[in-house]
Amino acid sequence: MNDKEMLKRDLDLFESINQGHEEHLKGSESLPSINPLTKAKDVAYVRFSVPDLNLYEDWIHDFGLKIIYKDKNVIYSRGLGGDGFCHVVHRGPAKFLGFALQLKNENDLNILYKNISGCTEPHIIPGIEGELCGGKRVSFIDPVCGFLIEAVCERSIEPLLPSRSRLEYNYGDKDLHRRPANQLQDTSGNRSADGNNSIHPGPPDVIKLGHVVLAAPIGIHHKMMSFMMETFGFLPTDSVIFESPKSAAGHAVNPQIFEALKAAGPSPLYSNTKSKDSATYAAFFRCDLGEQPTDHHSFFIISNMDKRMGPKGAGIQTQLSHASFEVSNLDDVWRGHMQLKTMAEHKNKRYEIAWGVGRHVLGSHIYDYWHDPYGHVHEHMSDGDKITRSFGQRIHSISGLGPNGHNQWGPTVKESGIRNLDGPAAASFYKNFDHETQQSLVNRDLSNVKELISTIRSTV
Ligand SMILES: [Fe+2]
Repeated sequence: MNDKEMLKRDLDLFESINQGHEEHLKGSESLPSINPLTKAKDVAYVRFSVPDLNLYEDWIHDFGLKIIYKDKNVIYSRGLGGDGFCHVVHRGPAKFLGFALQLKNENDLNILYKNISGCTEPHIIPGIEGELCGGKRVSFIDPVCGFLIEAVCERSIEPLLPSRSRLEYNYGDKDLHRRPANQLQDTSGNRSADGNNSIHPGPPDVIKLGHVVLAAPIGIHHKMMSFMMETFGFLPTDSVIFESPKSAAGHAVNPQIFEALKAAGPSPLYSNTKSKDSATYAAFFRCDLGEQPTDHHSFFIISNMDKRMGPKGAGIQTQLSHASFEVSNLDDVWRGHMQLKTMAEHKNKRYEIAWGVGRHVLGSHIYDYWHDPYGHVHEHMSDGDKITRSFGQRIHSISGLGPNGHNQWGPTVKESGIRNLDGPAAASFYKNFDHETQQSLVNRDLSNVKELISTIRSTV
């Protein structure tokens, strides 16, 4: 089977319908019995390096992040909320470097230092990063995939007000008329009565980094799930399994994927259920905040069998599937879509739709995924589920997800961009990059960013 056929089979997978089941394992006792080193509170930021910071600055603006510091080597950006900058881009080879998590306190940082090989000592965040939002930090290179992982605490930044007042919607039912009479809906600041209208509505306000998603080779995906649960206390919210390569409706799930997943062994997420012999394809993880509601997922791992996602001859490597940023509502998701689309169409920007707009089944959020100018997917999301510890976890047969392209509404199976979330080589313009850039983007080896990484990890 050639690669093209393989991708088509992958899409068929989302079309398959059989008697797949959903299992809800309720309560804390259904969660993996792990005594984690720490419990992350949230994700904090993502780090990239790119050769052309000027080009990338436009992307940051058009996506809706606010730049709080820039010089010729780096740009720091934030949302309205969060604990500090949530997006960093350095001048350097095109690459996703890694991500940071928020921890409770210095004690947690110390636990990581003592237990994780190569972890720095807890230190006050030095330089401009410390000046921007304070805080303390440790960092290490994760032993499973090779990302730079940072853990921070005590960062803070003043929240910003949204550029527009919160929208009220008219629900069509006379008892649900939330928007007062004579108040004209103005979702984009371009129809005010005093004529003070903007010509272009512009990007939405990003609120914060929502979640980080990795697409890992089969086998590695289980190891990374275990590592993140054991190190940062992540809890599985929803996982997706394959039970059979053939559905009752006759649609084939790619048998190679099924066999490879089976060979990866038992899931680290659950045991003693009817799903225990199944193969785990992907899992959404939330932070363990006890009974305080938290995002349905702050971290997510999906398995990656896409041969484009590795350096030539070296096999598939773990990729950033996407970094997701929360916006206020459906209008803001669409506003982001229009900003990126119009900039691509009218200003020739290297932005490309990956998948959207739609509403997911798992997590329930409204989504819109775009490749940035180097192919890394950034998502605008809104209205996701909030979950507590006692929710337990749910297990879904992939074939139970329905025929609608894995959506509550949105693009059909045919229009699905799910394969675009495998990594940066999915962008159509990837083929135009020179060999070195391509290899840097899909290779987890850090040798071409060695100096940059050591500067970032500096403790003074
Ligand atoms: Fe997402």
